[in-house]
Amino acid sequence: MGEDLMRLHLVSDAQFCSPNLRKERFGLLGVGLFVKQPKAGAKLHLRQKTDHQQVSEMCCFISKALALCQYFETEGIRFPDMKVIELGAGTGILSILVALLGGDVTITDQPALLRQIERNVSFNIPSSFKPRVKVRALCWGRDHTLFPSDYDYILGSDIMYFYETIPLILQTLLHLSNENTVVYFASRMAYGQKMIGYGYVIMSRYFKTELVCRYEVKDINVYRMVRKTPTPGDLIE
Ligand SMILES: C[S@@+](CC[C@H](N)C(=O)[O-])C[C@H]1O[C@@H](n2cnc3c(N)ncnc32)[C@H](O)[C@@H]1O
Repeated sequence: MGEDLMRLHLVSDAQFCSPNLRKERFGLLGVGLFVKQPKAGAKLHLRQKTDHQQVSEMCCFISKALALCQYFETEGIRFPDMKVIELGAGTGILSILVALLGGDVTITDQPALLRQIERNVSFNIPSSFKPRVKVRALCWGRDHTLFPSDYDYILGSDIMYFYETIPLILQTLLHLSNENTVVYFASRMAYGQKMIGYGYVIMSRYFKTELVCRYEVKDINVYRMVRKTPTPGDLIE
């Protein structure tokens, strides 16, 4: 199912626009997007000196975000006036696409990544769409209570890759979601089948969790999750 992931790279013409940044053009669901991201191996100039730097370097590989784009295309999932939040957005490409497909999108990541996302938003989102796009810092398990709990969709691509962050992601999801919220996550299983599998087992205690698509060639799974029961008293905040 959905093996032609690279079909999304319709106009993939990577241009190297600075020593550390590369600019790529993607054709997604009929929408042309420009994304600037750090070149593989390049260091981001981060204001916060933490292990986020290592994480940011991993953001060079955005195929997991493209997997969700491909899945939405294949399944005909569109977002007219839907309230959407993305966790750990990296370049923001997924949310940018969702905004262009009609979503009211909040794009989140750690503070050090917001400039990159804002730049990509400004390249790609026409001014008439801008009121529908917010870029905000959201560190999992820390800032989630600053956000509402009425999202229609929560998206996350390639965000479960450390055991320590799994409880933080769960805590964040439980706060942001209600019984009507649909969560879509994409994970590249090669990054740690055991750890990622464990993550989804933990999620499945609170969310009905389904593997809805697997891109075999890229080794990417797409999961759909919905709250098992509306139990605000159970929140582990
Ligand atoms: C591997 S990247 C994936 C980026 C993007 N979703 C994609 O698929 O290209 C993981 C993202 O999670 C973010 N992240 C990691 N730990 C986080 C935390 N504790 N709170 C919020 N975001 C975090 C990173 O900054 C990074 O953008």
